[in-house]
Amino acid sequence: MKYLPLTPILHPWIEELNKDHDLIFDWISKFGSPINLINLDVFGENFQEFEQVFNKYGLKHKIFFARKSNKCKSLVWAAKELGFGVDTASIEELEDCVAIGLEASSITVTAAIKNQKLIEYAVKHQIPLILDNEDECDLLQKVLQEYDETLNVGIRLSGFRHKEQRLYSRFGFDVEKVKDFLFLHFNPRGKFNRLNFDGFHFHLNGYSVSERASALFQTIALADEIRPHGFDTSFIDIGGGILMNYLASAAEWDEFHQALKESAKNEKEEVTFQKDLLGMTLQNGQVVGEPKVYPYFNKLSQGKFIEEILLTEKQGQRCYDLLNERNIELRIEPGRSILAQAGLTVAKVAYRKQDAEGRLLVGLEMNKSQMTSASADFLVDPLFIPQEKLNSEPCEVYFVGGYCLEQDFILKRCIRLPQFPQIGDLLCFVNTAGYMMHFYERQAHGFDLAKNLIIGTKRTWEAKSDEIFWEARLNT
Ligand SMILES: Cc1ncc(COP(=O)(O)O)c(C=O)c1O
Repeated sequence: MKYLPLTPILHPWIEELNKDHDLIFDWISKFGSPINLINLDVFGENFQEFEQVFNKYGLKHKIFFARKSNKCKSLVWAAKELGFGVDTASIEELEDCVAIGLEASSITVTAAIKNQKLIEYAVKHQIPLILDNEDECDLLQKVLQEYDETLNVGIRLSGFRHKEQRLYSRFGFDVEKVKDFLFLHFNPRGKFNRLNFDGFHFHLNGYSVSERASALFQTIALADEIRPHGFDTSFIDIGGGILMNYLASAAEWDEFHQALKESAKNEKEEVTFQKDLLGMTLQNGQVVGEPKVYPYFNKLSQGKFIEEILLTEKQGQRCYDLLNERNIELRIEPGRSILAQAGLTVAKVAYRKQDAEGRLLVGLEMNKSQMTSASADFLVDPLFIPQEKLNSEPCEVYFVGGYCLEQDFILKRCIRLPQFPQIGDLLCFVNTAGYMMHFYERQAHGFDLAKNLIIGTKRTWEAKSDEIFWEARLNT
């Protein structure tokens, strides 16, 4: 077993909290293990970072928090309090926004499936929809006729050209065919005459700045083509996929990747449980592909990522200039990146044991569903919170969870602890607010869901639903 560090970046509030172990032990004894913490002030800071970039370039803009990345209703309420919007992926998320009091103009609906119930709800509340396909347009037109209403809509696009290729997505209208579709149907005599075209939307897979800039240029060109025909594009929404950075060291990131590839060789030590290659494959003794993991270390994150898109130049003109000249509002839907440093998950050590191959397994009172994303592993070191400092040697461990599955490893990577863990010690996994806490959360085995504690370090917030507000007086 070999541990290679992947040191997390820690926001000052996490560093402060890490000095107050009594408080964390207190939470675990009150609310059980694991618990999730959400810091609404940090959510606000991330929003401000995006705001500042848009303001710097004088852009009309709107930020919608992609709620799918974290289920806490308190975040929706905080978005309302802080003056930004929410992107919703289901009727349940939509209803929460309305119940919390967001205005229709601060809600966008990108739900992958929009059934009659959702569409009727949106029409009743005049909440604009982002449309993905012609069947959705048909259903919306039918509902609008029944209600004798009209509705503002955005059209989702895909199939952009980038470096001689087209960027595939299962979502959206083909960008090369949508113009004819609009001309034919979105007019007073067309079959979608109750749908008011208002703007375009796309959300690209992956995290490429240049792909997003290409898509944005093509969408602006499309807006120019349709304008003389009476179609005014008031906004372009470029979705999410804005990078955030979890890790402090580029060298550690590179060394881990190198060691992971090397580990496949017979005589090399494992750096992940049973030499899991995290999505790479072994073909004729050679490691093929790249790990299927989020780029946990990256240099271009959050505001800078957006700025880089805005500054991309084509034929002497920059993206932001083109938008400003046309008075087009730029929208984004950050999920993960607006939650950077805003949350963490704490779990309690239940047991230690040695497996038959000599590894030290540390059982945590949690399960894999309580900290999982689409990434093959969460490549960020946790913080260790012991009940007391011991004089024992550091030890290398794997964390396992409460499911009856062989695969219930909380992290696949081998982790080093500064001392031998004791039952009741705590592990704090930082930066779990984006997707990790809730996206795959399940109640198999009848396990309770983790409690969500809402904190604010600079001001007092409310907590919504069954979330618990905790006044944390940290020196941040
Ligand atoms: C339409 C849409 N908008 C926004 C997001 C949020 O993306 P991210 O969390 O990467 O910012 C997603 C994520 O899947 C999405 O599908």
